[in-house]
Amino acid sequence: MIVLGIETSCDETGIGLYDTKHGLLNHTLYSQTEMHSDYGGVVPELASRDHIRRVLPLVKQTLSATKHNLQNLDAIAYTQGPGLAGALLVGASIGNALGFALKIPVLGIHHLEGHLLSPLLSTPSPNFPFVALLVSGGHTQLMEVRGVGLYRLLGETVDDAAGEAFDKTAKLLGLSYPGGPALSKLAEQGRPGRFKLPRPMLHSGDLNFSFSGLKTAVLTLTKKNRITQQSCADIALAFQTAAVDVLTEKSLAALRQTGHNQLVVAGGVGANRQLRDRLSEQVELAGATVFFPAIEFCTDNGAMIAFAGAMRLQTSDTSNHSSSNSFTVKARWDLELLKAPIDP
Ligand code: KG4
Ligand code: ZN
Repeated sequence: MIVLGIETSCDETGIGLYDTKHGLLNHTLYSQTEMHSDYGGVVPELASRDHIRRVLPLVKQTLSATKHNLQNLDAIAYTQGPGLAGALLVGASIGNALGFALKIPVLGIHHLEGHLLSPLLSTPSPNFPFVALLVSGGHTQLMEVRGVGLYRLLGETVDDAAGEAFDKTAKLLGLSYPGGPALSKLAEQGRPGRFKLPRPMLHSGDLNFSFSGLKTAVLTLTKKNRITQQSCADIALAFQTAAVDVLTEKSLAALRQTGHNQLVVAGGVGANRQLRDRLSEQVELAGATVFFPAIEFCTDNGAMIAFAGAMRLQTSDTSNHSSSNSFTVKARWDLELLKAPIDP
C-alpha cells in the first residue's frame, strides 16, 4: 500500500511517500522560515498562501524521484490539525481533491500522532508500549503510547511549550526566528555555571512542566547584566541547561511511573543536541533505551504524516476513509480523543 502524506499545519510544506512493503520511498520539504523571519514569527495568512504555491510542485517532485505516479497511490493522508486553520485547509483541500479524483481513501491525521510515531521511521525503532516526550513549538507533553491511537496523557506544560520558550528566549537575546536552533548554537559558546536559572516544577510531584517563568528569569538577567556576545552565550547556555534538566528529570519520572523501559523523543526540540546527549546518558543509566527520530524527522515533515496514515490504514477498515466534498480541519485537537483504529 502506497500512501502520500501532506503536511501544512504551520510554516513547513512537507510531502512524504510511504510504502507499507518497502518503507519510506521519498520525502520533500519546503521551509517558509526565511519568509517569516522578517516578521519575527509565523504570519498565518502568508503561510497559507505559500502552502498553496508549494504543495502540488512538491507532490510532483516527491513522486518523480520514485518509479511511482499519482495512479499508483492507494491513499492520501493529510494533517487535519492541530495547527493554523488556513494553513491546514490547504493540505486538507488538496488531499481531499486528489483523493476524490483518484477514487482512493483520504485520512485526516493528527499532527502530534505523526510526531509520536516518527521514531518508528528510523532503525532501530521502539516497540509498543513506550513513553513519548513530545517537544515542539506548540506542545510539550509526556504520553504513554500503547499502540496506534492508544495514547494516554501523563503530563504537559501548564503555560509555554518548550519550543515556544526557546523561541521567546532567543528573541530576548536578539536572535532571529526560529530561535530554537539559533539559541542552541549560541549556547555552544556559553560558559557553564556563569548564570543559574530556576528549574520550574522540578519537584511538583507530577509530570507537568512550566516554561514561562524561565523566560521571565532570562528577561531579568538581560536587564541586570551588560549584554555582550559572551554574556548572551552564557545566558543561552543557562536557559538551555535548565530546560534540558527539567525535560530529562520528568521523562525519567514518567518511565518510573509507567514501568516502561523505552523513551521516544519527538518534535522540533528533539533536534537539540544538549537534550539528546543528556537523555541518552540518563536514560541509559536508568536501564532504559531512548529513541530519537532522525533530525530530518524531528521537525515538521510529510514523511511522518504518510507513515501515520499508513499505520492507520493497515489497522482499520478503509471504507471509513472515503474522500468527500465536505471536510473540516481542527485548529485545536486533543490527542487523547483520537480513537484506536482497532481496540486492543
Ligand atoms: O515540531 P516542530 O518543527 O513544529 C511544531 O509542530 O511546533 O517544532 C518547532 C520548534 C520551534 O520552536 C523550534 O525553535 C524548535 O522546535 N527547535 C529547537 C531546535 N530545533 C528546532 N529547539 C531547540 N533546539 C533545537 N536544535
Ligand atoms: Zn510539529
